[in-house]
Parts: sequence; C-alpha cells; structure tokens
Amino acid sequence: MEELKPNIQFPQELLDEVQRSVNMFPEGKQKSALLRVLHLAQAHWGYLSSDVMDYVARLLHIQPIEVYEVATFYSMYDTTPVGKVKLEVCRTGPCMIEGAEKIISYIEKQLGIKEGETTPDGLFTLKAVECLGACGYAPMLQAGEQYHEHLTEEKVDELIAMYRQKPLANYMGLKHD
Ligand code: FES
Repeated sequence: MEELKPNIQFPQELLDEVQRSVNMFPEGKQKSALLRVLHLAQAHWGYLSSDVMDYVARLLHIQPIEVYEVATFYSMYDTTPVGKVKLEVCRTGPCMIEGAEKIISYIEKQLGIKEGETTPDGLFTLKAVECLGACGYAPMLQAGEQYHEHLTEEKVDELIAMYRQKPLANYMGLKHD
C-alpha cells in the first residue's frame, strides 16, 4: 500500500469526529459519512487536495474516485486553494431575476478578480453557486456560515470592508494548517 504523506493526517480530535460520523450509519455503510468528513477535511486543510481526498478515501475504506466524484460535484467543496473569505453568490433563477449577475459583476470590479478567482493577497475568493435555499431573500451570497441577503452594491461594499477588517473564523471553528 502506498505510504501516506506524513502531513496528511487528522489530529486525534478530528479522527474522533470522523468515527462519530461513521458510527451514525449501519455497519459497512461508512461511505455515508463522506460529506461530513469532506467538510472536516476542508475546514482543517482549507481545500481538498488530491492527497487529502486520497486520505479521506483511506479513512472510509472507499476508492479515491468515489471521493473525487463527490468533491467535484458539489460547489461547497474546493479542490484548489481558496482565499480566507469565500464569497459564494447564488446565481440560480430567483437570485438571477433579482440581479445576481449585477452583484457578481460588481464584486468582480471591486475586488479586481473574475468569478472563480482569488485576490492576490489571498483574502477573497469569488464563486458563483447554485441555489442556497434563501430564494425569498434574493439576491444573496454565503460567506463561511453566514448568509447575506437582499444584496445591493452598498451592502457589497460594507461586506468587503467588514471582511477586510475581520476575516472569517474558519468553518466549524477549525484553523487551517
Ligand atoms: S435562487 Fe438564490 S437562494 Fe435560491
């Protein structure tokens, strides 16, 4: 068996959390814990590199391809490095009707990046994503665990200024390595 890279290893606290997640499912169905374990891995390492995904596959005794398929399907997972603040703007129907495209263009202009890119200082990443379940509050974006709704250009300016002052606590309160 290929040797694990020594730096790809959850601390004991997270291994315990993985075990708790696995225990929620019937024996032999440990794959069902995959979404949760990927969240933990992304919170811990910042993004899901192929080494991290291979590690998750080994932890859950599944094939790496099964992890890659899930990690690349959902926009909530990042398989390349992202900034400290990920602005995920919904671009599905109701948000589009309420001006999501204009909001995305405005953020691009204010940050000097295109959708999918990260600012050179590593602070912001801008992503366009599918419905985040807050259609009644369109247009909206998610940053970390926080939703920002009824967006306007003024609100975007405030958000950018706020996150420049105080970047997000990492998802699930975990620190990136
Ligand atoms: S369409 Fe944007 S949150 Fe549902």
